[in-house]
Amino acid sequence: MRHFLPNGAELIIRPPVIEDALGLLRNFQRMTQETDFLLFTPGEALEMSEKSEEDFIKTYLKNPDQLMLVAIANDTLVGSITVNHSGYHKRGHTAEMGIAVERAWSSLGIGRRLMTAMLRWAEEHEKIQLIYLQVFASNDKAIHLYRNFGFLECGRLPYGIQQRDGQFTDLVTMYRRVKP
Ligand SMILES: CC(C)(COP(=O)(O)OP(=O)(O)OC[C@H]1O[C@@H](n2cnc3c(N)ncnc32)[C@H](O)[C@@H]1OP(=O)(O)O)[C@@H](O)C(=O)NCCC(=O)NCCS
Repeated sequence: MRHFLPNGAELIIRPPVIEDALGLLRNFQRMTQETDFLLFTPGEALEMSEKSEEDFIKTYLKNPDQLMLVAIANDTLVGSITVNHSGYHKRGHTAEMGIAVERAWSSLGIGRRLMTAMLRWAEEHEKIQLIYLQVFASNDKAIHLYRNFGFLECGRLPYGIQQRDGQFTDLVTMYRRVKP
């Protein structure tokens, strides 16, 4: 899907190809440096390689129950959204999503477009009835985005996350039904 952003840049949202591995790796490494709202630390991101990202992309391409979409702005991979199944039959109707957009490209509507494309896919999926996610309670912007799409808080793990500065924050679970 091709869009134009308010800053005039061209945005393409599409499934990844193997050749996106390096772009995904660089995006991930930049993001773990600039935000503390991802689960991975910069050190953990540095342990990843182009090969590990190739394998990561392949897990999405070969499994129709999983989704990855990448956001390409001005030919650079600047964000992604994923939907993951647990693999257990009894949880086959549920899937967990994750999203990340680089700071230099944030607040331009990329997150909204990734969420829209992801929900369209989930609504069409034969098994998925419910999408859930986990977000740091201190992440006001992400929570705002999820609420905009009808996600509701359904629980929180107190002190579930210790941020880089040593402070603890709750880990919030949110969900949205995608089938009536
Ligand atoms: C959260 C994130 C995915 C949002 O992506 P984005 O492309 O910036 O999102 P959009 O531009 O589509 O929308 C952002 C919304 O947040 C709002 N917003 C911006 N700053 C905000 C803030 N500090 N508090 C609350 N809302 C805020 C915007 O106004 C916009 O809402 P609107 O459409 O109602 O006006 C992105 O900032 C990100 O990846 N952050 C770092 C990693 C992360 O937090 N990932 C999620 C982990 S659960």
